[in-house]
Amino acid sequence: MKLDILLGLQWGDEGKGKIVDVLTPHYDVIARFQGGPNAGHTLEFNGIKHVLHTIPSGIFHSDKINIIGNGVVIDPVVFQKEIASLEKLGINPVENLFISKKAHLILPTHKWIDAMLEEQKGEQKIGSTLKGIGPTYTDKVARNGLRICDIIASDFLERFTAIYKKHTDLLIKNAFKPNEDLEIVFKTWFDSLQTVLRFKLIDSEYEVNRYLREEKKVLAEGAQGTLLDIDFGSYPFVTSSNTVAAGACTGLGVAPSQTGRVIGIVKAYCTRVGNGPFPTELFDETGEQLRKQGHEFGATTGRPRRCGWLDLVALKYSIMINGATEMVLTKADVMDNFDTIKICTAYQIDDKTTDRFPTEINDEVIPVFKEFKGWKQNLSEIKEYEKLPDAFKEYITFIEQETGIPISIVSTGSDRSETIIRA
Ligand code: IMP
Repeated sequence: MKLDILLGLQWGDEGKGKIVDVLTPHYDVIARFQGGPNAGHTLEFNGIKHVLHTIPSGIFHSDKINIIGNGVVIDPVVFQKEIASLEKLGINPVENLFISKKAHLILPTHKWIDAMLEEQKGEQKIGSTLKGIGPTYTDKVARNGLRICDIIASDFLERFTAIYKKHTDLLIKNAFKPNEDLEIVFKTWFDSLQTVLRFKLIDSEYEVNRYLREEKKVLAEGAQGTLLDIDFGSYPFVTSSNTVAAGACTGLGVAPSQTGRVIGIVKAYCTRVGNGPFPTELFDETGEQLRKQGHEFGATTGRPRRCGWLDLVALKYSIMINGATEMVLTKADVMDNFDTIKICTAYQIDDKTTDRFPTEINDEVIPVFKEFKGWKQNLSEIKEYEKLPDAFKEYITFIEQETGIPISIVSTGSDRSETIIRA
């Protein structure tokens, strides 16, 4: 079998968690390949709402294997809390959740360095979730990091001390004082490693490739979104990993020749948390309506998300980078009451029209919009594609024609059951 990849085509928060959960019955293995506790994947079913940060969204299906791949960065304290809240729901993830020995560990000092660096950026702040993501990936690339396999190494304390010393030297040099009790913080961190050790630590590249060879279906679950990718996103306002399809290859150890479907999740409008360019952002009543109706507040930080119209220039760019083979459209139901709906089809920059996503994207970009009639109907009550309102189907057809790939699933609400899978 080939590895299927599911990822976000915008600035994150497209609804990936829900769709992974919906698709899990069709897969044997769900594997996270990048990011860490900056992610917040929300799943809703049977009246339960659950947010996952590090753990793959297939965890609610006890017969499915879930893998945290080598490309992920793990905060053991967050992980411990996630496990505790799953266990509270009666789920026992020990049997079906495996962790790559090569995944990197987030230390408390990584979070402090994150805060220190953001502080130093002043007006140019990224708007990081401050979960220590950037500094942990920095240490990985600089070959200073601590990996999951280090926890069981006989000289773990020495390895820990070496990185701890580097971090504290840097923090002291910059006069950064964490507002926390160091003794408690480190005791909690070391204690939480015991929770990690309850799980099977694996060479996930061998396991994932074995599953594929054995004709098992494996789904790679992305975090954040393409426009937050370290290489292709709106740099420097991005996260520190490759959120694109290629990241699934490096984050799981699967060759490009072994990849199959690339399922891109698209929200029917755009949102962004944190700073950085956002050409179609709305600062008016409509933006406020999207935020309210769409409950657009960060699942990890609770911050209000910036909202705007769907941006086809950015979407086509994301589809190209990922080689997306199909899309899943989410949250169109948020616009059920809108009289008119807009889609950005091009950018105007210096009086020139372009359909390219510029490298130096900034506030000078003026979006060109096409207007659509609203469908004015409650989408979440509809269970078959054919019964969807014509105005909505026209909107879908337009997106498909413009992007050249099909929308295979339409999500009409936050619950698992509110999903239309097109034949
Ligand atoms: P960091 O990855 O926490 O350093 O954050 C870098 C940027 O990515 C900030 O603008 C964050 O708000 C954004 N970001 C990080 N993770 C997510 C996510 O899961 N969803 C949406 N935005 C995110």
